Amino acid sequence: RFRGGLIVASNREPYCHRKTPEGLRWEIPVGGVVSALDTVLRVTGGTWVAWGSGSGDMEQTDAGGRLLVPPENPAYTLRRIWLSASAEENYYHGFCNLVLWPLFHGETDRVVYLPSFWEEYEKTNRAFAEAILEECAWNSTIWIHDYHLCRVPRMIRAADQERIIAHFWHIPWPERERYDCAPHGEEILAGLLGNDLLGFQTPLYARNFMDCAAARLGAVIDDDAMTVAWDGRTTQIRTFPISTDFECFNALANSASTAARIRRIRKQHHLPRRVGLAVDRLDYTKGILQRLQALELFFQRNPEFHRRFSFIQVAVMTRSGKPYLRYRQEVEDQIAEINKKFGKADWRPIIYFGSKLERQDLVSWYRMADVAVITPLHDGMNLVAKEYVASRGDGKGVLILGRQAGAAEELTESILVDPTDIEMFATAIHRALTLSSGEKKKRMMQLRGQVQGNTIYSWVDNILDELSLLPVMKQGGK
Ligand code: UDP
Ligand code: G6P
Repeated sequence: RFRGGLIVASNREPYCHRKTPEGLRWEIPVGGVVSALDTVLRVTGGTWVAWGSGSGDMEQTDAGGRLLVPPENPAYTLRRIWLSASAEENYYHGFCNLVLWPLFHGETDRVVYLPSFWEEYEKTNRAFAEAILEECAWNSTIWIHDYHLCRVPRMIRAADQERIIAHFWHIPWPERERYDCAPHGEEILAGLLGNDLLGFQTPLYARNFMDCAAARLGAVIDDDAMTVAWDGRTTQIRTFPISTDFECFNALANSASTAARIRRIRKQHHLPRRVGLAVDRLDYTKGILQRLQALELFFQRNPEFHRRFSFIQVAVMTRSGKPYLRYRQEVEDQIAEINKKFGKADWRPIIYFGSKLERQDLVSWYRMADVAVITPLHDGMNLVAKEYVASRGDGKGVLILGRQAGAAEELTESILVDPTDIEMFATAIHRALTLSSGEKKKRMMQLRGQVQGNTIYSWVDNILDELSLLPVMKQGGK
């Protein structure tokens, strides 16, 4: 359905090559954007423009920075672009991770801004815009992702008025009052209004964006048509909640190989009969410390669960800046403390994995977990929650979900909690572990219906449907 081909752009690349003592290795970085879009591009084909961040990335590309991926079964082109040390520091660790990420996740106190961050943000966005244009045919569709590339749509638009440009915003968009303190807030909005179509995870984030555009730029909002008009052009604003490959997780979770793997894992880790699970990137927005506090209170209040229940926390570090190193230390210290307080020679209350689980293992843990505790403080969507549901064709398993995750809008049959209310949170863990099997099944079947009814494929289809209407609208608007 992409006649002139699809050009996707994101900061993070879907495949990353690393030099190791055993030779060059490739891996799939952890994160929702990569998980979702790789699934899509394997089907649609096209070109994905992204930062070549791996130590062995250059060795694997042609002179133009291109290679075919997935490495074992090529389906699309990855075009890598190279960042200078200063760009990595000021654009990625700086403006993206120290300004935009905390600001858009309600953590304004964590924002640190330096003017050099913005200079490199502009420069890097320009490098992306140029690379995207190099990859384009005259009628290609450009599809940009996330907060790293806000300036790109306007930069491309300056070179080409006609081309269709869409953008998907994977993280929350804050309300106007909070956005007021955004450095370069006007430029960010102006950049994004270079798009024809701008998609958000939930209606609230779309609404917040429109309010900010009206307040900061004086843009004209049409609430019925869901458009923002500014500087002679109109951008369609839509909501497309992202999702997962339901059938893939479902089939893998039901397979004999997963059953065998579960038996192996149980033995290897000496697991008690009942287990809980959380899977996150190691990030302060994921509420890992609050979850550990709730678990501590749970173990304190419910000695009958000692030796009978262990909690598995997977926390994979992808960002190496100071706040992340500090957060990891805090998480590890807290886990050590809980284990010291309640643990026995033959039982660990909390089991911690600091490195990435591959799909097969991940699904085995999903299938094994009596309760998944997915409680971010703020999150655009949270795919882990949907993957857990897709893996529970047995109708067992309970999902505890933080109200502030975008997924909470759809997954209303989960046990919804405010992750900062530690008392209620600990009570919710107890409730999840004592729910009747009938109630569990009823809830899980409703959750599964929800995820199955909106998969990653319906997500992309809905976006394509909107895109197919665009040329007509663009002409009509002129
Ligand atoms: N993931 C993984 N292995 C891990 C941890 C996470 O493959 O050990 C994947 C997970 O399956 C999911 C993604 O990383 O698809 C995380 O996406 P999510 O939307 O939950 O959060 P994000 O990291 O994008 O904030
Ligand atoms: C979130 C963002 C993605 C990002 C991912 C991992 O999901 O929305 O754009 O790729 O986190 O973060 P990282 O900084 O490691 O790419």
